[in-house]
Amino acid sequence: MNWYYGAMLIVANWKAYVETREEAKKLFALAKRLVVAVRRVKIVLAPSAAHLGLLAPGNRSKVMFASQDMSDTTVSAATGEVTGGTLHNLGVDYVILGHSERRARGESDALIAEKVRRALVNGLTPILCVGERARDEDAQYLILLKQQITSVFSVLAPKERLEVVVAYEPVWAIGKHAGDAPSPQDIGEMVLYIRKVLSEFLPGKSAAKATVLYGGSVEAGNIRAIAGGSGVDGFLVGHASADASQFTALVKALI
Ligand code: PGA
Repeated sequence: MNWYYGAMLIVANWKAYVETREEAKKLFALAKRLVVAVRRVKIVLAPSAAHLGLLAPGNRSKVMFASQDMSDTTVSAATGEVTGGTLHNLGVDYVILGHSERRARGESDALIAEKVRRALVNGLTPILCVGERARDEDAQYLILLKQQITSVFSVLAPKERLEVVVAYEPVWAIGKHAGDAPSPQDIGEMVLYIRKVLSEFLPGKSAAKATVLYGGSVEAGNIRAIAGGSGVDGFLVGHASADASQFTALVKALI
């Protein structure tokens, strides 16, 4: 197995798994310890919006923060929306956009593109999630993936495109267990394909250097093999990131 170079970015997407302040604080304290203990790992926590407001302000640790979503609006009469400016002012660094669980609630490629643009305007790094619901023999899923990337990158200025992190998350592999995730080789092929699509939008060799993450049933049992055998730059981790012992094992598997 090849080993990886550089630091792995681990984005902990707590989804709606964490409901108490105590649990959120405990997971934050754990992340602070892990990011010091494990070399070559960068940890980004993505709590609920409410818990972001609790944890992100005044953070001086190496742990960074992401929002799980963001509004496409700016300062306006928009009840219930959390704007990019609000997140930026809390000290949030990243924002997950286009997650399949948001797309399933009706988010279109056009809306996601607008959110990505607004994130960049507000100094947030967008993590654009792309991925097929299922694989088909005619490889239509590759066309869908290309469409998900193209719809966003085509509305961005050349300099903005360099800032976007892409997370490949096959929907059929989300919320299961390590054995249900695609193999490192399979993920590697998809990462290459994503970089090929990105090369249509990025200058020179930038597509090879773009940050591409994998997400979907990443656990302690498969993270090391995927890190070493697929060319990913990191992971978007769901259920295993909201459980202290699973998250510890997962991060330590990268030592
Ligand atoms: P999972 O979720 O790790 O629970 O599969 C990943 C994701 O949806 O980001």
